[in-house]
Amino acid sequence: MAVDDLGKLVSLCKRRGFVFQSSEVYGGLNSCWDYGPLGAELKRNIKDVWWNAMTRRDDIVGLDASILMHPKVWEASGHIENFTDPLVDCKKCKQRFREDMIQDKKKCPNCGGELTEARLFNLMFKTYMGPVEDEASIVYIRPETAQGIYVNFLNVQQSMRLRLPFGIAQIGKAFRNEITPGNFIFRTREFEQMEMQFFVKPGEDDKWMDYWKEVRMKFYKDLGITPSKLQFHQHGEGELAHYAKQAFDIQYEFPIGWQEIEGVHDRTDFDLGRHMKFSGKNLQYRDDITNEKYTPYIIETSAGCDRFLLVTLADAYREDPENERIVMSFHNKIAPVKLAMLPLMKKEPIDNYAREIYDMFKKHTNYAMQYDVTGSIGKRYRRQDEIGTPFCVTVDFESLEDKKVTVRHRDSMAQERIAVENLLSYINDQMNK
Ligand code: GAP
Repeated sequence: MAVDDLGKLVSLCKRRGFVFQSSEVYGGLNSCWDYGPLGAELKRNIKDVWWNAMTRRDDIVGLDASILMHPKVWEASGHIENFTDPLVDCKKCKQRFREDMIQDKKKCPNCGGELTEARLFNLMFKTYMGPVEDEASIVYIRPETAQGIYVNFLNVQQSMRLRLPFGIAQIGKAFRNEITPGNFIFRTREFEQMEMQFFVKPGEDDKWMDYWKEVRMKFYKDLGITPSKLQFHQHGEGELAHYAKQAFDIQYEFPIGWQEIEGVHDRTDFDLGRHMKFSGKNLQYRDDITNEKYTPYIIETSAGCDRFLLVTLADAYREDPENERIVMSFHNKIAPVKLAMLPLMKKEPIDNYAREIYDMFKKHTNYAMQYDVTGSIGKRYRRQDEIGTPFCVTVDFESLEDKKVTVRHRDSMAQERIAVENLLSYINDQMNK
């Protein structure tokens, strides 16, 4: 059975240590969430898979730019002028709404009360840099990671001696003072982005847009996300961001409906052009073979890390009433715990032998693992199923004689006997599939 509401995921996440409400002991902080031990592992795995897919190729390099940037960056990017949502207040119940998200623009969707006129609300968080809190010391907390890449375009290109086309990838936090955050970690005010900006020669942008659409969709399918729950949505005239010539969302069918997880945008030469204008610096690219000089076009792939994490949770969730279990069928590469070692009994010499095998994995891999000796073996399997551990290894009396262990597969529940001397390479092979 598929997950039919987010509530089930929220409670599983809390119960099993994936996601907790931020500052829970104080009643929580609206739209802020903390990743628990398993959520932190899951998130690291997602970031690793993305980083490896994007930077372990010859035409993309990584970057880690600072969150606070010169305020002029946000003038140039258009965020000060355009990064706004129309906000309305209910005169009766005082709730706030994004006007573009409600059907009847005159009536409060909560209580039917009268709504105020819409006013534009800028989504950037502001703070002060240094000890004086005045206009001159205002800085913005970045609402996207992309700008750190644009302003470093020439630094990266020249220091790494890169020729077009090439890309710069970055993972980092972004902050938006969303009017209506919600749906668990789907829309929050603090979140992490995984963005890549690909710089190309003007005129070659359509070709690269097609290329990146395909590569990015394949990324999700390769991680086992249900293909029928993935689709492209092309932005129409009214939807296009101020910088975009063409934009496609990769959408997933969440329990709350079809929603964006990643945007693939043709940003033209807007960003570099604007930074040249506002900084007065020449950020043009010079082809060292043809000597041509031009402002590159940019194809951007912009994914939400937390939002994709929610996809991995929703897509992995299965109820299996026949076997009285809930299973999180994560792809091996992102499963937070890779292997559980379950000695049949908490007794020598079984326990000892199990420890030996467990230590061998610790020495030769960096897998997150669990060693569990408490409760019946059936209960232990179910505990691991619920956190999505792909392999359980059981050591029993026979193991001491034949030097073999039972490997139990999470999804099929199939079991096979594997020689201990082959176990490490067997699990490594499975993990790399
Ligand atoms: N640099 C382009 C850019 O930021 P975006 O469509 O505004 O584009 C890209 O954001 C991705 O960031 C979205 O597809 C989504 O996954 C994620 N994202 C944006 N706002 C978010 C929020 N408030 N909470 C969680 N994720 C968010």
